[in-house]
Amino acid sequence: MQRCFTLTIVRHWALRKKLFTISYQQSAAMSTLLINQPKYAWLKELGLSEDNDGVYNGNWGGKGEVITSYCPANNEPIARVRQATMAEYEETVQKLRDAWKVWADIPAPKRGEIVRQIGDALRKKIKVLGSLVSLEMGKIYVEGVGEVQEYVDVCDYAVGLSRMIGGPVLPSERPGHALIEMWNPVGLVGIITAFNFPVAVYGWNNAIALICGNVCLWKGAPTTPLTSVAVTKIVAEVLEQNNLPGAICSMTCGGADIGTAMSKDERVDLVSFTGSTHVGKMVAMLVQERFGRNLLELGGNNAIIVFEDADLNLVVPSAVFASVGTAGQRCTTTRRLMLHGSIHDVVVERVAKAYKQVRIGDPWDRNTMYGPLHTKQAVDQYLAAIEQAKQQGGTVVCGGKVMDRPGNYVEPTIITGLAHDAPIVHTETFVPILYVLKFQTEEEAFAWNNEVKQGLSSSIFTKDMGRVFRWLGPKGSDCGIVNVNIPTSGAEIGGAFGATINYSKDLPLAQGIKFE
Ligand code: UN1
Repeated sequence: MQRCFTLTIVRHWALRKKLFTISYQQSAAMSTLLINQPKYAWLKELGLSEDNDGVYNGNWGGKGEVITSYCPANNEPIARVRQATMAEYEETVQKLRDAWKVWADIPAPKRGEIVRQIGDALRKKIKVLGSLVSLEMGKIYVEGVGEVQEYVDVCDYAVGLSRMIGGPVLPSERPGHALIEMWNPVGLVGIITAFNFPVAVYGWNNAIALICGNVCLWKGAPTTPLTSVAVTKIVAEVLEQNNLPGAICSMTCGGADIGTAMSKDERVDLVSFTGSTHVGKMVAMLVQERFGRNLLELGGNNAIIVFEDADLNLVVPSAVFASVGTAGQRCTTTRRLMLHGSIHDVVVERVAKAYKQVRIGDPWDRNTMYGPLHTKQAVDQYLAAIEQAKQQGGTVVCGGKVMDRPGNYVEPTIITGLAHDAPIVHTETFVPILYVLKFQTEEEAFAWNNEVKQGLSSSIFTKDMGRVFRWLGPKGSDCGIVNVNIPTSGAEIGGAFGATINYSKDLPLAQGIKFE
């Protein structure tokens, strides 16, 4: 089970103990770029233009392959980015090593001050950056803003932490000796991020790594390069205004070539990878082969378990938010909805009714609740998964079709009648398909929650106090996130590892997101 958020990040690289592409591409004619249309003129507020440099190491560059970024809502080209060559990667790593010598000497609270300024700079651009995320990734505007908010929140967290990094003083058995735990930076942290959270994932890693005295090299997803460039511009301006080497937060846009180079490179002390379990495994093996450190945030085949005593007024919006939100493309998305036999039919009926009320549209339209999938490949995966589910005994009770409109739109889908261990139920398909399973006993439900390979987030809905503590305990959920009466997705930055219990009758969402 792989599960790593803030706390793990802190543990991994703050801190060395001293006690010792798939890229979907088309050709884009210059005249058709969205950035040239008046409607999208706001992109220039982020410093973006038709052609953008995809390398930053104190200087901007990009002599490699030119990629075009497409809008998933209409598959039109937005703008282009020039990726890094291997020579530029090499030059960037050398500049990072030099920058580290400066950064590591700066006291942690002063590093925190720089991170505070990054948070403030992001606050000023939160709406326009959130709009870019919406345009380029395809998630709805409030979620785009919400993930910039996560970066801002992590900056605040990191600023506080910069004055709090501690370690115990232990009694030494030898007279005249002090036994202390002291933490030093790891050095160069490589950050490889996924398309689905093109700002937040970098933010979690970057803010914490920085206050701990590390320098960062970022490779974002090849399908969201404009977001990587826009974020790096904001961060670079803060560094440059403080007369610090810009290389402290370097970026090399690229595909598998750059990701592989980072994984193999002994000068990259820690590689933090967020993305598919398949690629994560390859990264982990390459990093391990050279005894480097890795930090992985991979798949989640997350379940909500609803018991007979649950408050269904909480269950229905939770199931809809967690399975339909971000069009099913969160690592924390609910993929399995386990319903007690006594309430199975009524919950299916209510959730299916709520699905039909989900407003589908352009992701940047403030009224929209559900946008497109990120790529055409995801649409194919959606269709293939539905076909397999039907073959394995499933019934589509809602959705199931590709939508007849421009862009990568598919209907949010509910499938009932599958066995808890049907192969498709045990497969994490990164699309909005919810498998509904019927259970009879608590033991059975907890076992089904834990039987998948991808354990990340999990939720139960119940009012039974004993059951809550059994769920939180050693024989309960084996996931990193263990929730009660809230959905699997939408974790707060501070409590990403651990349990969140909702003892109210309301369902406020973190990061100020509204989904209704
Ligand atoms: C992811 O999809 O990679 O808990 C992370 C959540 C968000 C993070 C999702 N805070 O849904």
